[in-house]
Amino acid sequence: MKEILELAGEYDLPVISDEIYDLMTYEGKHVSPGSLTKDVPVIVMNGLSKVYFATGWRLGYFYYIDPPENKLAEVREAVDKLMRIRICPSTPAQFAAIAGLTGPMDYLEEYMKKLKERRDYIYKRLTEIPGVSTQKPQGAFYIFPRIEERSKWKSDKEFVLDVLHEAHVLFVHGSGFGRAGNWHFRIVFLPPVEILEKAMDRFEEFMRKRMAE
Ligand SMILES: Cc1ncc(COP(=O)(O)O)c(C=O)c1O
Repeated sequence: MKEILELAGEYDLPVISDEIYDLMTYEGKHVSPGSLTKDVPVIVMNGLSKVYFATGWRLGYFYYIDPPENKLAEVREAVDKLMRIRICPSTPAQFAAIAGLTGPMDYLEEYMKKLKERRDYIYKRLTEIPGVSTQKPQGAFYIFPRIEERSKWKSDKEFVLDVLHEAHVLFVHGSGFGRAGNWHFRIVFLPPVEILEKAMDRFEEFMRKRMAE
């Protein structure tokens, strides 16, 4: 993050930081780039769909960490206009946002405990499946394994479609998120362990079969 900030400073660019999963961490706490710089402007984006379970309510917010030169003045003005004219959420939704942001947060602890159990489960299963490797996610509810066995498919997209047709498990192809996602796929581990287990059993069978071919 510090390297990104340095680069932004060198080229006089603001950093845009999407922090929608800020309170959904497993090990350690979330750190915002805004806390690591004194001179690079940072536009922080956040929303209520994840931590506050308000998916679909279209509630989000920006805030600006803008050092003394006020480099973001024009951006702020333009965004404020856009908010007023086009993308402002409804009044009831805004009141719901206030209730969410100022209300108790104790539900989150229980939720994160459940998610951690699911994260640990899916991570363990994936490390036992041949042909893929994975990092352990430190936050949110996605895992992004890499396809190590590449001789059977032309791309991550073809791989994902093969898994879908054969094992009836749906993953998202990594290249859909940009070039850095090539030969990766994304799994959402929100479902309970029993469902993840079924999906991983099918996926493991699929991989073992393909590797033996
Ligand atoms: C990283 C990230 N940012 C922002 C969003 C936007 O959420 P919403 O459109 O529900 O506010 C998502 C949703 O999946 C996300 O994963």
